[in-house]
Amino acid sequence: MSYKIAPSILAADYANFASELARIDASGVEYVHFDIMDGQFVPNISWGADVVASMRKHSKLVFDCHLMVVDPVRYVDAYAQAGADIMTIHVEATRHIHGALQKIKVAGMKAGVVINPGTPVEALIPVLDLVDQVLIMTVNPGFGGQAFIPEMMSKVERVVELREKGGYSFDIEVDGGLDNNTIAACAKAGANVFVAGSYLFKNPDLTAQVQTLRDAIDA
Ligand code: DX5
Ligand code: ZN
Repeated sequence: MSYKIAPSILAADYANFASELARIDASGVEYVHFDIMDGQFVPNISWGADVVASMRKHSKLVFDCHLMVVDPVRYVDAYAQAGADIMTIHVEATRHIHGALQKIKVAGMKAGVVINPGTPVEALIPVLDLVDQVLIMTVNPGFGGQAFIPEMMSKVERVVELREKGGYSFDIEVDGGLDNNTIAACAKAGANVFVAGSYLFKNPDLTAQVQTLRDAIDA
């Protein structure tokens, strides 16, 4: 399965979004990861669909939107109009997860479902036939720069098994605390979409930093 690197612009310089996006484009990655936070589902507040729409004019990369907001179904049309390619929503934040994922697909986006570290894989089972992407959080959502939780790798392995058993083809994404060490464990467990924020942006040479992740995955 082909893999994708998804820099999280949560770790970028917000005063220079256009040049940050240009640097991401030039680094040869496949996705840009947008962390949408509402100060309710998670303590932090980031940005919303209008920012995604502005960024859309500057990049042709796949826009991978991770909504950490209460009742995300309210924003399906807004993200579709903003040009989001993938909209990923938390089971913990969504009253009717099945219907909400259907709505994302009807709106023309790929549908992703995500679980927090404290939520069991079982919560995903009823919607696995609907989704294009399953995201396993490897930190508690809300902030960049947190420590990777290695215990989440057994969840990734379990989702790989469920995908095989069901004959599905969704991607498996991991998000939080990824660096050139932890990403190897994620790849070994079977993830194929890798979100990285603080690790990538701490190096002014983003392209070189992306390469260290690819090397770790390939090793
Ligand atoms: C956490 C976000 C992550 C975060 C990752 O709530 O979902 O996408 O930006 O940042 P790092 O890679 O620094 O853990
Ligand atoms: Zn995220």
